[in-house]
Formats: sequence, C-alpha cells, structure tokens
Amino acid sequence: MNLDAIPRERLPGLLRAMPKAELHIHIEGSLEPELIFALAQRNGVALAYPSVEALRAAYAFTDLQSFLDIYYAGASVLLKAQDFEDMAMAYFRRAKADNVVHAELFFDPQTHTARGVAFETVIGGLSRACERAQRELGISSALIMCFLRHLSEDDAFATLEQALPYRGQFIGVGLDSSERGHPPEKFARVFARCGELGLHRVAHAGEEGPPAYVWSALDVLKVERIDHGVRSTEDPLLMQRLARERMPLTVCPLSNVKLCVFETMAAHNLAALLDAGLVATVNSDDPAYFGGYMNDNFIAAFDALPQLGGRHAHRLAANSFEASFAAPDDKKRWRESLDALFAA
Ligand code: HPA
Ligand code: ZN
Repeated sequence: MNLDAIPRERLPGLLRAMPKAELHIHIEGSLEPELIFALAQRNGVALAYPSVEALRAAYAFTDLQSFLDIYYAGASVLLKAQDFEDMAMAYFRRAKADNVVHAELFFDPQTHTARGVAFETVIGGLSRACERAQRELGISSALIMCFLRHLSEDDAFATLEQALPYRGQFIGVGLDSSERGHPPEKFARVFARCGELGLHRVAHAGEEGPPAYVWSALDVLKVERIDHGVRSTEDPLLMQRLARERMPLTVCPLSNVKLCVFETMAAHNLAALLDAGLVATVNSDDPAYFGGYMNDNFIAAFDALPQLGGRHAHRLAANSFEASFAAPDDKKRWRESLDALFAA
C-alpha cells in the first residue's frame, strides 16, 4: 500500500468510499430547513421566516454568534421525543450515504429545557434514533451532552443533575456555544464532577478563542479531545504538546470557512495540522447550516488544498477511529476495512 502513489483523480472516490467516524456533529445542527418547516407545522410553532428559501437565504454568517442566533431559533420547532428521533434518523441516513460507520452526537439539552421541553423527551428521542441507527443502518453511535458556555456553571450543574437518571444513555460531556469571553475555567468544577462520574470529557476550544483556551481545556477540564482547536497552530509549544500526547482535534473545514475562521478553504490549516503529526479528524459540525455532511467536508478540503493526498485521506479516517470512544474491537475492525480499501 503506497499511499503516496495514489493518483489525484482517485481521491474523491476514496474519500467517499472510505469508512469513517464522525466525532463532531451537533445533532440540532443537522436540522435541514425542510424539516424545520415540517416540524413547525406539525407542532404549531410560528417561524420568523416565511419559507424554506427565505430561511436558507439567512444562512450568511459573519462569525460564530451570528450562526448561533439562527441555530437556536431553528431548534425551537423540537418539542416531542418523536421530533428528536426524526431529526437524528435523518442525520443517520445521510451519514450512512457517506460511509460513516460510527458517530458521536453532541446534543444541547439546555436549548430545550429552557423552552419547557423535558430532558427525558430530548434524550428519549435521541436514544431511540441511536438504537434504530444500529438496527436499521448498521451505524454505531453514542451521545455526548454539551453544556452551553454562555450560561453559568450553576446552570450546567443543574443540567447534569437532570441528566444523571439517564447516565446510561450518554457517554460524555462537551462544551459548546459562544467561545469568546467564556473560557474553559468557567466550567472547572462541573467538569471535575463529570470526571468523577466516569464521563468522557471534550470541549470546543481554539475555534474563535485563543490557544490559551486549548491549554486550559487540557489542564483544567482534562479533556480527551479538543473540538476545533485550529487556532493551536498559533502556539508552537501547544502544537508540540498536542502531537506528543496524541490529543485529537475534531476539525470542521466547511464550518470554519462559513463562520469566517478562515477566509477561504485554501487558507485552511488542516494539512499543516496533519503534517505536524496531530491526530486531526474531519467532521461536519452543523451540516444543515454549513453546506455539507462528512463527504462534502472531505471533498471541499482536498479540492482546495493540493498538499493533501492519499496518505492524508487514509490518516484522517484512521485518526477518526483512534480518536473515537468506541470499543477497541470495533476500532480494529473499522481500521482493517479502511486498510483493505486502500490496498485494493
Ligand atoms: N461552535 C460552538 N458552538 C456550537 C457550534 C460551533 O461550531 N455548533 C453548534 N454549537
Ligand atoms: Zn461544534
């Protein structure tokens, strides 16, 4: 298997066909405008936009906050467990088409409990979809509960309290929403508690926020993965540490361009992260809002970055399995099927 000899024209086919894990997908960010309108109608929720087209036209973001405002508005149509199940099943079908074999889904309970939707409703619908994904599509999956960092740590503690009766239905916690001005330290105590409970810990850091937020996600929150982390390249010492510790970064190329973290895809640092030896992965973040699912992200990045070749494609898929919280036997099986594809 000479990965450097793979011709460029074979890359799109390989990128699409290769088995892969998705580790950074906010399930509420998979809500397509068509489904938003269908659920609004089903639940009698009024929307601020007159049509699917008008809503889609509003997806012109200037930064993270301009996206979050619309993203939280879109989530307002989710009221019943069936809504959460339908949303997640739509995502799993798209993921299946992209040869995603394993997905770890973020969900934002506070976005829903603040509107009077019970925690049980949210996790009940999502859990059912995860079971169906395995049974109907052969996709393995897990749920990671995110705390909204623009809210208080007390609010996060209250959410953890609500979640504990459902401890068996999620594998870990994350930290998302507005990054700037909300450093990881704000959530030191609740993450420590989650560690005592045996939950996996991840956090968004270094998307819009500075490298210092990546340091404190590692040192204060004790995370096992950094979500985004692309601003780490500004800090050579941090880069050395991330490589040495094989600390995964869940990179989201289309998201980064849509939210103006990079001006263009050609300016993205994915190739630099990989060439520095980091365990970078490719993910879709909020695919309904950012212009594409997993394979769209791979194709867009490889199209724009001529430095990326067969070796990087194989590495990104291998990294996605290594960085996942799946069982060692599953990781080994997926890695073998990846190697078999590249050997063919
Ligand atoms: N960053 C922070 N919070 C989020 C994102 C993101 O990309 N998507 C959904 N919530
Ligand atoms: Zn994200």
